Amino acid sequence: MNISKIKKTEILSNDDDGIDRASIIIKSGGLVALPTETVYGLGADATNAKAVELIFKVKGRPAINPLIIHIDKMNIFEIAEENEIAQDLSSKFWPGPLTLILNKKNKSKYKIAKNALAGLSTIAVRVPAHPVFRNLLEKSNLPIACPSANFSGKLTLTRFEDVLSSFSGKIDAIIDGGPCPIGLESTIINIENKNLSILRPGKITEETFLENNYVLKKNKSKNKIISPGQLKSHYQPNTPLRMNVEKPNKNELLLSFGPLPKNTIGISLSEVFDLNEAAMNLYSSLADLDELALVNNSKSIAINHIPNEGIGIAINDRLKRACN
Ligand code: TXA
Ligand code: MG
Repeated sequence: MNISKIKKTEILSNDDDGIDRASIIIKSGGLVALPTETVYGLGADATNAKAVELIFKVKGRPAINPLIIHIDKMNIFEIAEENEIAQDLSSKFWPGPLTLILNKKNKSKYKIAKNALAGLSTIAVRVPAHPVFRNLLEKSNLPIACPSANFSGKLTLTRFEDVLSSFSGKIDAIIDGGPCPIGLESTIINIENKNLSILRPGKITEETFLENNYVLKKNKSKNKIISPGQLKSHYQPNTPLRMNVEKPNKNELLLSFGPLPKNTIGISLSEVFDLNEAAMNLYSSLADLDELALVNNSKSIAINHIPNEGIGIAINDRLKRACN
């Protein structure tokens, strides 16, 4: 299929009718953007190599970067090999914003397309909590390959309107599910023997794993990229960013943590210094500042210091990559 061809993109409601339609599209090999509790995703039937190929094309994503397979909880060990720690983590954190890297199961009733896993013998699995996604998994009865719904390397999207303006004419449908409540991508965990390492920080933090008595190891692979998508430069708005800035320069917009100071043009991530609220607002604020920069002819966006604790670690991780 030629994706430069303009498609008519259906706007679907987040009720049973909309999700029924989305399930028909997914089953027939189409692409549907939909909300998750973390960020908007671009979903397709993970067992259909042609549909998966379209995800890579539409996003402009390198073929070496594997996709997360979203599945119903009862089917996890149909696609991944059983593992005691994964079993335990799954009972504590799924459904929810956690992705586990597990060994792929070879004989499975679901044949996950090779291109979805970029040819690796491991598989990234997540059981999403968002009611729209859960309903879609139930109705389609398929594992769904679903990266974040954004162009590769660019800003992640957390609002229906932003997904519509990026993907209208390029995919089959978008489900309008309002803004995503967490606002940052899931925490990705690698399990090696009995140790966990965090490949991508998120809402479920290091402290939470430690409180639950897991042993965490630093991800040793500083140079070798275990997670091919953990590239240094990612999540980029069009306007350059500067982090840990107290006072913006002239002609610079401010993304503040705390109230926006008087006579400053910008947006506050959280007026009350709440890190969860800041995470929820991060990508949408950057999208709005990108537009404001155009109108205002601003050359860059200054960002206040964000405390590097709790979900602040994930915010800083994304901002650092966005600055590169
Ligand atoms: O919250 C989320 O996880 C969202 C929503 C839509 O579920 N999805 C998401 O997908 O963030 P994506 O494709 O934007 O990021 C997935 C990351 C990539 O960095 C990819 O390299 C990594 O997961 N990944 C996938 N399979 C992997 C594997 N087998 N081993 C290591 N990393 C893997
Ligand atoms: Mg992404």
